[in-house]
Amino acid sequence: MKFFIDTANLQEIQEAHDLGVLDGVTTNPSLMAKEGIFGHDNVMAHYKKICEIVDGDISAEVIATDYENIIKEGEFLAELHPNIVVKVPMIRDGVKAIRYFSEKGIKTNCTLVFSAGQAILAAKAGATYVSPFVGRLDDVSTDGMQLIDQIVQIYSNYGYQTQVLAASVRHVMHLVQCAEIGADVVTCPLNVITSLLNHPLTDIGLQKFLADHAKGNK
Ligand code: G3P
Repeated sequence: MKFFIDTANLQEIQEAHDLGVLDGVTTNPSLMAKEGIFGHDNVMAHYKKICEIVDGDISAEVIATDYENIIKEGEFLAELHPNIVVKVPMIRDGVKAIRYFSEKGIKTNCTLVFSAGQAILAAKAGATYVSPFVGRLDDVSTDGMQLIDQIVQIYSNYGYQTQVLAASVRHVMHLVQCAEIGADVVTCPLNVITSLLNHPLTDIGLQKFLADHAKGNK
């Protein structure tokens, strides 16, 4: 399972990269705004900085919601760097654009997916990735993880090449359950990745090892 970090924060991207386990990055307009990155040129320059840190797929989201402008924006984004994946929302013109990008060999990430039907459509259109939002489904009392399970099963039934990218992953159990189900990718904040390190028995065990070692070296 690939690990993507879901942020536009360069320090956090660098930290995850330095840990040696990072495969890619996902961003969206809200994450850009959170970092205070506004305006076309600043946003494009920021994507380039991310691409310099991580040699993996970097999702950059289009703002347009009509076919013509999604194509225009997506082609511009794809030209920025070979690792850019054009992130397109699950809307009618978005699906049409994904089909277009797919035929042009431009990688896509179909975002804001909340149902198995939407995920089937994204795969039929030729999306490289589909992004079901686990945490946001949980927020409205719907089991987000069940959707991941359904999509993985459906894609396997038909051999769809679209990779299941579990998004809106908020905690370690989400991540571990994604791995059990067989999601291709999880994208999550840095703290979810670093939380994987934690176990109190590891800390206690290490303290004891170091203390015992110190006894023999007095
Ligand atoms: O990848 C989608 C993600 O940014 C949404 O996360 O926590 O805002 O639902 P969240």
